[in-house]
Amino acid sequence: MIKYLNIITLYILIIYISCASESFPGGKRVYTSNCESCHMEDGSGLPPMYPSLHNSTYLNSNLKELPCIILNGKQSQLIKNIIMPAHDFNDVELTNLINYMNVKWGTNQNILLKDVQKNMKNCK
Ligand code: HEC
Repeated sequence: MIKYLNIITLYILIIYISCASESFPGGKRVYTSNCESCHMEDGSGLPPMYPSLHNSTYLNSNLKELPCIILNGKQSQLIKNIIMPAHDFNDVELTNLINYMNVKWGTNQNILLKDVQKNMKNCK
């Protein structure tokens, strides 16, 4: 009996660890269905067409601009016919997405919902 309990405890622990190790699972879902096709699952992109998001200048120093870039999309600076499409996310989805990318590839600083809402007001 004790033996079975140990095995069950071990399973629960493994499941807990595998779930807890992924930060911002909501953001990951948004990323997977909207961004991965160009910027790749690991964020490495497909340069020069689609920029890598690893330690991207945008992630590290343009945190404030991120909401608008994601919502409005962006014209490629290098290739004329390539654009990143606009996205229609609500503020919670956007906050989760930005935090997911930050934890994975940026400076690991968390951004708050109220800051994202404030920065969304600057979008043209
Ligand atoms: C159709 C392909 C495509 C999709 C889908 C896409 N992007 Fe982009 N992304 C681009 C292109 C092209 C650029 C502009 C590159 C440049 O400035 O030269 C870009 C730029 C960016 C930048 C600025 C980084 C930099 O170095 O210029 C960020 C941040 C970004 N994308 C995040 C996202 C996120 C988050 C999503 C999902 C919500 C997403 N992208 C979806 C193609 C895409």
